[in-house]
Amino acid sequence: MQGIMNKPILEMKNITKKFGTVTALKNVNLEVYPGEIRGLIGENGSGKSTISSIAAGMQKPSEGRMLFHGEMWQPESMVDALNKGIGMVVQESGTISGISVAENIFLGELGNFRRHFAVDKKKLCEEADKALANIGITEFKGRDIIDTLSFQERKLVEIAKVMLKNPDILVIDETSTALSHDGRQIMYRMMDKIREAGHSVIFISHDLDEIMEVCDTLTVLRDGNLIRTFTKDEFDEDKIRTSMIGRELNGDYYRADFSAAHREEKALTAAKLCYANKIKNLSLTLHKGEILGVGGLSDCGMHELGEMLFGAIKPESGTVRTAEGREIKSPHQAVAEKIGYVSKDRDRKSLCLEASIKDNISVAGMNRYMTKTGLITGRRERAYVEEQIDALKIKCSDQNQAVSQLSGGNKQKVVFGKWIGCGSEILILDCPTRGVDIGVKQAMYQLMTRLKEEGKAILMISEELPELIGMSDRILIMKDGEVTKEFERSKDLTEADIINYMI
Ligand SMILES: Nc1ncnc2c1ncn2[C@@H]1O[C@H](COP(=O)(O)OP(=O)(O)OP(=O)(O)O)[C@@H](O)[C@H]1O
Ligand SMILES: [Mg+2]
Repeated sequence: MQGIMNKPILEMKNITKKFGTVTALKNVNLEVYPGEIRGLIGENGSGKSTISSIAAGMQKPSEGRMLFHGEMWQPESMVDALNKGIGMVVQESGTISGISVAENIFLGELGNFRRHFAVDKKKLCEEADKALANIGITEFKGRDIIDTLSFQERKLVEIAKVMLKNPDILVIDETSTALSHDGRQIMYRMMDKIREAGHSVIFISHDLDEIMEVCDTLTVLRDGNLIRTFTKDEFDEDKIRTSMIGRELNGDYYRADFSAAHREEKALTAAKLCYANKIKNLSLTLHKGEILGVGGLSDCGMHELGEMLFGAIKPESGTVRTAEGREIKSPHQAVAEKIGYVSKDRDRKSLCLEASIKDNISVAGMNRYMTKTGLITGRRERAYVEEQIDALKIKCSDQNQAVSQLSGGNKQKVVFGKWIGCGSEILILDCPTRGVDIGVKQAMYQLMTRLKEEGKAILMISEELPELIGMSDRILIMKDGEVTKEFERSKDLTEADIINYMI
């Protein structure tokens, strides 16, 4: 590691962070060197976001101190930290809706664009376009309203905004799962440039392959403790995994069988769906006891397809019908037909962040804990929620805790638990394992397999090919709003077989 010779650019000493009774970090010592890409890995709730957001001025440590370029580092806020050299792309959505891309990029600095008492919009948009081009984006512009952008594009806006300040240290918190192939390439290229300039990156990801590929060093956190830092020559998948979870991971990861079996009965049928150039004359049938995978690049229309099957987007023509022929026209109807939906964009579409874990989980499961006479008792409701918390190992102080206080992966578990537990007969899962650690991923796959065996129908939209290959009975590959290819489950199916039909 080249950095060892140099002086560290950032030193975090004995950092402890407490939230009420929860200790998120215990005496963590972390040093980052110039020209280093440092990976951070660990289970959901292990403290990755907390330690890096302390460095980036988002919150203050309860104990401990920090040095940046050898001097005391006590940023007042994220903006302050960014101006002084540490920028962060946060794990959750970091853009503000209702305003333009340009306004998002220059938020807090609009004063610099004032001309005759008003903001010079033309100049603002021009500068924003430059900031976007700076990281290689020309597909959308500064004048676009942020809400017209996809999830991935909004994440790229955040990256452009931070990169504008050319920070000495860039923190990238679990951003890869928000990006598809192209977006990731943009990010990796940018990280290389940062390293070449002698600056540093703190890179958080649950994807062990990815993190071993892009990082020079890798630090493992577990339960708020820094367990170990690996240098590149020490990288070893099993050793890293074991230090992450404190035990060896046993059992099958994906489904063990290779038969593409499902029941004859249909669960949901989509016929000739069309929608604004995003979905073109698309038809599909989902069967009971089937896991139907849908894959493609992030702009292929698959996320819109998921929303459409749940009734959240109205097709311009075509229909979505249940086995009994009833048409799904709204999420309300979908829920009445026992359809559950996990959105990729969990913060905006799947969770009420200010409400408790209990309220988020219990809304969909009412028919499960209601007595035969329609009575809802607090005790039964609590027991139902507790079941989901246990099944998915949701890390929380108790079920009344606000979802906003959970770590990213634990929020995702709440969304999953809300729909999996409530007796949905049909599940539409859009990137269900986004941001969850390997142990929980395994638990989610096991749950999905069990539901399949019970005869439930699952449509899983995913950008991860190993997951599609590992779990699906059939895989539909989409490109430009159309299904370009269908694959049957098979032991011989490889990623290379699929990729050609995506791009
Ligand atoms: N504002 C808060 N209030 C209470 N507890 C919090 C708050 N923020 C974080 N925590 C707790 O601190 C612990 C560490 O959370 P952190 O977000 O750092 O985890 P993480 O390693 O980033 O996990 P993930 O992979 O799921 O993103 C968790 O138990 C979390 O619930
Ligand atoms: Mg996190």
